[in-house]
Amino acid sequence: MRRHPCFRALTAHSPKRLKSPLMLVLGIETSCDETAAAVVSDSGDVYSDVVRSQIASHAPYGGVVPEIASRDHARAVVPVVREAIAASGFTLAQIDGIAVTSRPGLSGALLVGLSAAKGLAWATQKPFVTVDHLVGHLLAVLLQRPGSSAPRPEYPFIALLVSGGHTAIYRVNGPELSLVHEIGATRDDAAGEAFDKVAKLLGLGYPGGPQIDRLAAIGNAARAGVTLPRGIADHRSFEMSFSGLKSAVARHVASLPSPPQDQALADLCAAFQATIVETLVSKTVRAAAREEVPRIVLAGGVAANKGLRARMAEVCTRRELALFVPPFSSCTDNAAMIAYAGALRLSRGETDTLSEGPATKTALLRVTRKGGGKR
Ligand SMILES: Nc1ncnc2c1ncn2[C@@H]1O[C@H](COP(=O)(O)OP(=O)(O)OP(=O)(O)O)[C@@H](O)[C@H]1O
Ligand SMILES: [Mg+2]
Repeated sequence: MRRHPCFRALTAHSPKRLKSPLMLVLGIETSCDETAAAVVSDSGDVYSDVVRSQIASHAPYGGVVPEIASRDHARAVVPVVREAIAASGFTLAQIDGIAVTSRPGLSGALLVGLSAAKGLAWATQKPFVTVDHLVGHLLAVLLQRPGSSAPRPEYPFIALLVSGGHTAIYRVNGPELSLVHEIGATRDDAAGEAFDKVAKLLGLGYPGGPQIDRLAAIGNAARAGVTLPRGIADHRSFEMSFSGLKSAVARHVASLPSPPQDQALADLCAAFQATIVETLVSKTVRAAAREEVPRIVLAGGVAANKGLRARMAEVCTRRELALFVPPFSSCTDNAAMIAYAGALRLSRGETDTLSEGPATKTALLRVTRKGGGKR
């Protein structure tokens, strides 16, 4: 394994250090509405993981307000980084490199994390590396959190990445960008976006995913009295579409004499969630069959959905596929996944210059055309 020239084998005296010395990386994440910092080794051991959510700031608006996100990150980033270093049991001097999310995300939000990371790297002369947020989500399943003995998947694996801004199925042959291949993605809304928009029109607040999940658990889809469309149900296609589903829920609600309440609301949530889950599960399992890869990984905020986890587990058991589901804290935005992806880049000898800027789109190669049909 090639090491970056700045790599220095640690002989940390920290009592938390149990294994042989590895590369320790501080990760910073500010791509959307969570300010996060973490210290993680290149073997995936998580020493600290601090996440400060901005949900309360955005909730009155029913979604993330970019300007508010940037300002909140600017206030929080230094305290969050300090807390992550202190909680890790290491000092800044003992950290080998600085990793930061540079894409995809809100430009102003990304700029705050990037500036903080560059300032730290410059002041300490430590190697600096940028990370694609989606690669972070895809590798989150490999993190080793304290007390966890969950098995880690081998490469290759099929990953269903379902988050607030993205929904795609990937074949992941390794941790490098060039080894991640998109099999199919949404042509319009991300699954998390659909959860949030439907929750908003049902008056459930923001973020809507957890609220719909909670109500769906006590609802009965068969009693909802509506048949919702499964976008791109064609079983040969791995592309997805969720905007028609959202519109169908809106039309159904508009056709009712009054907005659904109580059990009727729970039944509608169950019907909506079941429709999304069926699309995600069936396409992911078919991708695993086509690629002849018997391992499936869930990633991203919507992977916290209990209905998705349960249905995917049921189908994987039936098809004899191994399913790897990260803990909730690794599904939603966090800096541990960024630190880990950055540590792997550094351990491959890769670094970035301090002139790196933010980008709103992922660097992963996309085969699905957003906003359009097949090419
Ligand atoms: N239990 C749940 N069920 C369904 N959706 C959920 C659940 N928990 C969180 N979500 C959804 O996950 C999304 C947030 O996930 P995440 O933080 O990974 O997205 P993001 O970082 O905003 O987007 P991206 O990673 O694409 O840039 C929100 O849309 C939220 O509603
Ligand atoms: Mg995310």
